[in-house]
Amino acid sequence: MNCMCVGLLAGIEPHVTIYHIDHPQILEDEYGGWLSPRMIDDFTAFADVCFREFGDRVSHWTTINEPNIMCLGSYDSGQFPPRQCSPPGGTFNCAAGNSSIEPYIAMHNILLAHASVVAIYREKYQAKQKGLIGINVYAFWCTPLTNSSADVAATQRATDFYTGWVVNPLVFGDYPKIMKKNAGSRIPSFTKRQSELLKGSFDFIGLNHYFVAYIKDNSRNSSKSGPGDFKSDMNVKLSVTNEEMPPGPFLPSFIPYNPSSMQNLLEYFRDYYGNPPIYIHENGFGTPYNETLNDISRIHYVNGYIESMLDAIRSGSNTRGYFLWSFLDVFELLSGYVKRYGLVHVNFEDKDLKREPKLSAQWYSNFLKKNAKLNTQNLDIQLSHSH
Ligand SMILES: *[C@@H]1O[C@H](CO)[C@@H](O)[C@H](O)[C@H]1NC(C)=O
Ligand SMILES: *[C@@H]1O[C@H](CO)[C@@H](O)[C@H](O)[C@H]1NC(C)=O
Repeated sequence: MNCMCVGLLAGIEPHVTIYHIDHPQILEDEYGGWLSPRMIDDFTAFADVCFREFGDRVSHWTTINEPNIMCLGSYDSGQFPPRQCSPPGGTFNCAAGNSSIEPYIAMHNILLAHASVVAIYREKYQAKQKGLIGINVYAFWCTPLTNSSADVAATQRATDFYTGWVVNPLVFGDYPKIMKKNAGSRIPSFTKRQSELLKGSFDFIGLNHYFVAYIKDNSRNSSKSGPGDFKSDMNVKLSVTNEEMPPGPFLPSFIPYNPSSMQNLLEYFRDYYGNPPIYIHENGFGTPYNETLNDISRIHYVNGYIESMLDAIRSGSNTRGYFLWSFLDVFELLSGYVKRYGLVHVNFEDKDLKREPKLSAQWYSNFLKKNAKLNTQNLDIQLSHSH
């Protein structure tokens, strides 16, 4: 936590995420990690230590990062640890797992663990430490591929499955109706007490938003033999532009520039969820490994999405902040070193991992300092002057 003290001295307000698919292996070995309700107490005990030791310096706590992507990656496609899956899920050959039930069970325990952590934060720490606590969710903006009523209905279904799976229990105390209907007994139910504990268990919602997803109904193509999984329960085909998404990863090979998705998403949260405080926890642009420092496409993207967020705020969205992904090029959860998201270039082949600011770093710094608007025309000139 030394870096936190340095950060505080520099006037940086720490926003801390407690969990990022990184629990100790012993909890997997002992009881199967998130598949067991025993994780609820263990995660709560861990968070309690974080609050006790660091809570005097942390203004914003996020319990869990992208539980929706985690449950699908870990237990449906099998892409993430502990790599469990079974047909009809499974992008990989998994040694164990059950894609029909495990994603739903893991999410259930995660939501209950989240609510339990929020309860102890509120009970023991919040009055004294004066921080805020929330959760994070990965959010596409879903829009119908065509105006057919089937695609329009499929779009609401996709939104309910991807986002509502996490957010509906926290706002309304239960999963979306369509999930309960389509997954039937494979999705666990909340007791009345659990539902009460969940409802309102957040001070803010963090969103990771990158792009729009075009949704096409897929229910006519479904041939069900045996129990389905999250994807066949949802029954949509998801694409970005005309490119169909590969089954595992949630990142397409390129991210289309369609910034109004940010405003649409934030306005959906305003209207459907009663306008909760929102932080954009992640938004940014991936470029190929061999990009140049002259990353105008990243500036173009970030400028457009920030503008779209500001439009949402002007129309009443309760959005409180924005984090750009990412300060540095790093190892990406979904794409390893294949894609770079940093404002600052890292030479991974250099043993000292030499860093160099990209043009976007200059632009972003300027934007923050002067609230400057992008003028793409002048970018080349600015760059050659600064060299
Ligand atoms: C997964 O669980 C369901 C419900 O218990 C069961 O019907 C199905 O056979 C299981 N699938 C596998 C691959 O074990
Ligand atoms: C759907 O209808 C709206 C309003 O009539 C129109 O603006 C939009 O372009 C249509 N979308 C598609 C994909 O056809």
